[in-house]
Amino acid sequence: MPQAQIIDGRVFAEHLRGVVAAEVADLRAKHGLQPGLAVVLVGADAASEIYVRSKGEHSVAVGMHSLTHKLAADTPQAELLALIAALNADPLIHGILVQLPLPKGLDERAVLAAIDPEKDVDGLHVVNAGRLASGLPALTPCTPLGCMIMLRETLGDLTGKRAVVVGRSVLVGRPIAQLLLQADCTVTIAHSRTQDLPAVCREADILVAAVGRPQMIRADWVKPGAAVIDVGINRVPSRDPEKAAAGKTRVVGDVAFKEVSQVAGWITPVPGGVGLMTVACLLKNTVTAARRINGLTAA
Ligand code: GUN
Repeated sequence: MPQAQIIDGRVFAEHLRGVVAAEVADLRAKHGLQPGLAVVLVGADAASEIYVRSKGEHSVAVGMHSLTHKLAADTPQAELLALIAALNADPLIHGILVQLPLPKGLDERAVLAAIDPEKDVDGLHVVNAGRLASGLPALTPCTPLGCMIMLRETLGDLTGKRAVVVGRSVLVGRPIAQLLLQADCTVTIAHSRTQDLPAVCREADILVAAVGRPQMIRADWVKPGAAVIDVGINRVPSRDPEKAAAGKTRVVGDVAFKEVSQVAGWITPVPGGVGLMTVACLLKNTVTAARRINGLTAA
C-alpha cells in the first residue's frame, strides 16, 4: 500500500499566523486598532497551563494585545462571572477565551453564556453555535476551523464528499459537522452508540476522529485513499517501560497513525497536525471579532 501524504499542521499554522500578523499590522496602521485577546485559566491543570501560555505567546508574536488571567481552582462562580463582565466591557479586548475544562463546582454552560457573543472567539456561545447551525456568519470554534482550512487547501473543492465525524462534542464534533455540511459534504455524525462504527467509518472520503480514545481508528476502518483528520490529543504511558514506570507519558491521537497511514490518502499526525492550527485560528478569530466590533469589513 502507498504511504499517505502527511497534512503538516506546522506549515499551515505558520502560514496562517503570518497572514494574521499582516492583518494586525494593517489594522494598527490604518485604523489605530490593536486586536486584544484575553485568556482565562481557572485552576492549575498542567495541560491547560501549556495551552494558555502558548495562546498568550502567539498573540503577542502577531502583534496583538494579550491578557492572561489565572484564577485559583476554588474561585467562586460569581467572581469568574464578574471577570467576564469586566472583559466584555473592556474596549481593548476583542476576544475572550475561558480555557476548558473548568474545575468542578463551576458551571461551564453559565460561564460560556456570560461571554459577549461578539467576543466569543472560541465560538462556544449558543448564539454562535446557533448561527453556525443556521448557516449564518458566526465566530466558529478554532479546532474545527483549522481542520476545514487544512482540508480545503489539501483536497480543494469538498462538494459531494462523504464525511464521517466520530464524536459529537460541542467543542469539535458538532461544529465540524456543520462546517462540512456548509462545504456541501454528505455528513454523518457517529459516536459511542453508533452501530458497526468501523463500517460507517469505511464509507468516509473524509474521516474526522474526535472521540478522545487513544488510537481507536484502525487501518481496516478506513477507505483506501481517504483523508483522515485526527483531532485526538491523548496522553498514554511512554513506550520505554522504565520511563513509563516513572510516570512519563507521550501524546497519541484517536487514530492508529502507523497502520492507518498505509491505507489513507492523507493524514494529520499527532503531534504536529490539527493542534497547531487551533491556536492560529484563535488569532484569526480575534482579528475577525476586532473588525466586526469596530464595524470594519473583512480584509
Ligand atoms: N480546551 C481544549 N481545547 C479547548 C478550546 O478549543 N477552547 C477552550 N476554551 N478550551 C479548550
